[in-house]
Amino acid sequence: MKIAVVGTGYVGLVTGTCFAETGNQVTCVDINQEKVQQMQAGKIPIYEPGLDDLFQRNTQEGRLHFTTSLKEGIEGAKVIFLALPTPPGADGSADLKYILQVANDLGPILSDYTVIIDKSTVPVGTSDKVRAAIAKNATVEFDVVSNPEFLREGVAVEDFMKPDRVVIGTQSDRAKDLMSRLYAPLVRQGNPIIFMDERSAELTKYAANAFLATKITFMNEIANLCELVGANVDEVRKGIGTDSRIGKRFLFAGIGYGGSCFPKDVQALAKTSAENDYEFKILDSVMKVNENQKTKLIPHLAKHFKGDLAGKKIAMWGLAFKPYTDDIREAPALYNIDALLELGASVSAYDPEAMGHVKQLMGDKITFTKNPYEALEGADALLIVTEWPQFRTPDFDRMDSLLKNKVIFDGRNLYELNQMQELGYTYYSIGRQTIH
Ligand code: UDX
Repeated sequence: MKIAVVGTGYVGLVTGTCFAETGNQVTCVDINQEKVQQMQAGKIPIYEPGLDDLFQRNTQEGRLHFTTSLKEGIEGAKVIFLALPTPPGADGSADLKYILQVANDLGPILSDYTVIIDKSTVPVGTSDKVRAAIAKNATVEFDVVSNPEFLREGVAVEDFMKPDRVVIGTQSDRAKDLMSRLYAPLVRQGNPIIFMDERSAELTKYAANAFLATKITFMNEIANLCELVGANVDEVRKGIGTDSRIGKRFLFAGIGYGGSCFPKDVQALAKTSAENDYEFKILDSVMKVNENQKTKLIPHLAKHFKGDLAGKKIAMWGLAFKPYTDDIREAPALYNIDALLELGASVSAYDPEAMGHVKQLMGDKITFTKNPYEALEGADALLIVTEWPQFRTPDFDRMDSLLKNKVIFDGRNLYELNQMQELGYTYYSIGRQTIH
């Protein structure tokens, strides 16, 4: 099938590349000329494990193309994915200007029946707006479908190729048929394609992300309580996660969720609720708790150093909002860096992928090191922010020789308490007792 994907951000590029991999002819359209030239030259603009291999294979075998021209990109396409940014506006609601601009532009240039698919996370009712914008100037029949994407950064290819489910919002049998054919290779294991109306599909995406953000936040609050009552959140997690109604996943307490989706989507869903005169109280709490959770270890740090962090050097392991990505959007690391600098400390940081982005944002405000150990040289303490696997079994002897004090503040619970006790560390973590 011939497909166009408009927008080559995270979701667009993964969607385009993966559909090329299943044998379709895909053209990705983006207004950013530099980015398109880069992709035409075989360079992938994002870091995502496994994506580069697929990108190279499909560009070389002629199934994946790039252009800045919408008209050229959609020529002959039976389906057009819109994977455009929906940044939060000043009031927290998703800004639809990019999507509606493309919808306006599409109307006059559609030359045959086409299915236009909202792949971006868009507020309820967006498909109606897209339909109206296209209809203003369209001369052929078309359908607008809502098809939210549930992939996670870091495992995007696997999530896309083997989705738990595919949600398709449309009432049109013609569109249903095309979408079923397109997704057939991805649901061969029996995972369902769930058809529903457009508004339910749009809400499904927000409900999924808000539910997961709430699940994490609930565990973060249990963790905070564990610290006060002398319990261990890891034990509680195992104790409740084995109940199949609760499930094992997304129960890891830490220093808050970040990324490009959860914070934005929780905020946007709260906004949609408010616009409909409904106060979604849980979401307000989730946002508040998560905000505090991000810098939860800072008061412990300050207390440990008797309220005086001025001149102290803090080593930071991890900057990305989670492992296997270079994404620092809403990353807890940024909030911790700001808080530490504010208190007069200096920060020396290491992250396997995200240092470039932080350097762009912060310049020389902090120092970056070539490896995790270099960050520890002469540091007064280590603060762990992202659970990259390489931080899980470090050379503790080497760490001892580099750190000024044997003290670790661990925002991701990487180590066992008895291990830290045996090694003689002062060890602060989340939802567990402090080891002195
Ligand atoms: C999320 C959704 O999972 C995905 O379905 C949607 O399409 C986009 O948003 P992503 O933002 O890539 O994906 O990351 P995810 O792996 O879901 O993690 C989100 C945040 O939650 C991270 O900051 C992570 O550290 C945090 N998290 C996750 C926890 O704190 N505890 C957990 O148990 C799980």
